[in-house]
Amino acid sequence: MGSSTRDLIQAKRDGHALDDADVKRLVGGIVDGSLPDLELGALLMALQWQGAELEETVSWTRAMRDSGRILTFEGLDRPLVDKHSTGGVGDKVTLVLAPLASALGMAMPTMTGRSLGHTGGTIDKLLAMPGLRVDLTESEVRAGLENEGFAFFEAGPEFAPADRRIYAARDRTATVPCLPMIVSSILSKKLCSGSESLVLDVKVGRGAFMHSKELAHELGEALVEVASRLGCPARYRLGGMDQPLGRAVGSSLEFLEALACLQGGGPQDLRAHVIELACDMLEISGLSEGRIKDRARAGAILDRAQALERFGAALIRQGADPAAVEDPVEALPRASIVQKMLMEDHDEGLIIDLDPMLVAQAAAALGSPGDPAVGVECLAKPGEVRSRGEPIFRIHGNSRGSVALAVRRLTEAIKIDVL
Ligand code: URA
Repeated sequence: MGSSTRDLIQAKRDGHALDDADVKRLVGGIVDGSLPDLELGALLMALQWQGAELEETVSWTRAMRDSGRILTFEGLDRPLVDKHSTGGVGDKVTLVLAPLASALGMAMPTMTGRSLGHTGGTIDKLLAMPGLRVDLTESEVRAGLENEGFAFFEAGPEFAPADRRIYAARDRTATVPCLPMIVSSILSKKLCSGSESLVLDVKVGRGAFMHSKELAHELGEALVEVASRLGCPARYRLGGMDQPLGRAVGSSLEFLEALACLQGGGPQDLRAHVIELACDMLEISGLSEGRIKDRARAGAILDRAQALERFGAALIRQGADPAAVEDPVEALPRASIVQKMLMEDHDEGLIIDLDPMLVAQAAAALGSPGDPAVGVECLAKPGEVRSRGEPIFRIHGNSRGSVALAVRRLTEAIKIDVL
């Protein structure tokens, strides 16, 4: 007879590793409901304190991945590679990267999620587009991969159902910041998407789950090791999150910023980060022609808007109104109040800081991500100089009260040095 759940909790509490069979049994109980919340909470707290070695993290990830559906897309004529970001403020990378990766010869089964905590989710940004569906069937995902080279779909309840219950319990028991469980949570879902390899964008800084580079590297290395052990070669890069990525925070605004990037414009930091991730994807999928050449190829595709058409085609395939895809500025939801915040205190100033958490709080006060119309445009970012009377933020809100709250958060978010 195997150990009781109580024995396993005790073993974990005392710092012993759980073996593969024990983890499988626990995950089975988590999915079928036979493991009560009380025991799950105690187990998670033991994991939080004692951690887990690589072998055990692999077991958790495998058991959680295998608790639901796993997609496979055999017979495609291009390498299947996915990207995952650990979550940031203003991170609209996936919207640009999927069509860019496709234009570079890869296919990206873009399984993605909703907002988590202060970080915006790709699904929320996509759903700003009227009519768009993300609850795709397997054959709809396949059709997207075959035709446009990507399909945006939600990691729904059929994928890694164990993670749903475990994440909810982590949230309630203050055990979210547990590295092995972060790794198994992320990978159990990501390894269902049918991709052959994976690039991880591990965010670091005040606006990320990982505040220090040391912790971010630790997470990146664990993610790569566990994914590779489960048959999915992976690599990671750190993505700075000490300020928002790009200028826009809020679904419609971010959608438009992603489109600008696909048209060769958009903010430089967003473009540069997307290009580096595309180069990582080329390397891991064996299509690289050398970093310098890869960068030039990716940059040229953006400059010539060569990935834009397939982005529009994918949106229409997924139900977006063609007229809305033709004229997104007109079609995307817009806020009723658009208010600029001006630089008023100095004749001339250098922006020295923009706290992403406070910008995220401003967007949340406006109703983001629930309301796709609202958000913040950061018109002045660190390193830039602005003169008196020039705008530093543009706030998009649907009520006077929420705009006033956002103004308060944004006033705290920005630091300006007098020149
Ligand atoms: N994202 C996830 O999906 N899970 C975590 O635990 C943390 C970030």
